[in-house]
Amino acid sequence: MKQIKAYIAVSLDGFIATPDHELDWIPESVKNLIGKNCESADTLLMGANTYTYIFEHWGGWPYKSKRTFVVSSRDTNVTPDCGVEFLTDNQLHSVREMKSDTDMLVVGGGKLLTSLIKVRLLDSLTVYAIPVMLGKGVPFIGETFGSEWELLESNVLDGGITRSTYQFLKSI
Ligand SMILES: NC(=O)c1ccc[n+]([C@@H]2O[C@H](COP(=O)([O-])OP(=O)(O)OC[C@H]3O[C@@H](n4cnc5c(N)ncnc54)[C@H](OP(=O)(O)O)[C@@H]3O)[C@@H](O)[C@H]2O)c1
Repeated sequence: MKQIKAYIAVSLDGFIATPDHELDWIPESVKNLIGKNCESADTLLMGANTYTYIFEHWGGWPYKSKRTFVVSSRDTNVTPDCGVEFLTDNQLHSVREMKSDTDMLVVGGGKLLTSLIKVRLLDSLTVYAIPVMLGKGVPFIGETFGSEWELLESNVLDGGITRSTYQFLKSI
């Protein structure tokens, strides 16, 4: 079985974006590191809100050379010619089937990560903890189930940012 990994920047108080979906609190160095991870992945996976954010804010589609799957209840694909496909039926079942063939990198966001964890599809999670509190915003992980994760690697980057990679171990 292949792996599904996620790389995400999280504020100290557990948000991944401001209420109006801004990411300007994430240092460019972290955006670049996450961007490099995306470039090296075979297949990208994201929720519909992350897809919309990227398309609307990044001036076009940045991952043209990749196969990208967007999980959603409806097909609002505006970049079908850029390797983007929407999964709109039996979404998580489709993700599980694809996982038998390909590694996937989850770009975001919190809702998709939560649903992947709920069905035990997420294998590893790399968290860039940014030393800023947003006060409110888009939450990181919602309600799932009790689980233990093993710390594989952790280091401190410039600006007091910690990068920690956890691997799913078991439910508790
Ligand atoms: N800090 C970071 O590193 C980082 C990284 C990525 C994104 N972000 C930010 O995170 C925000 C988006 O996160 P989010 O949590 O709001 O949304 P999200 O996870 O990107 O997308 C949520 C949407 O995806 C679809 N979806 C997710 N799981 C599903 C499932 N199991 N079955 C069917 N559909 C599913 C639904 O779309 P439908 O409503 O269409 O059904 C749902 O409303 C954006 O502001 C983005 O900029 C931050």
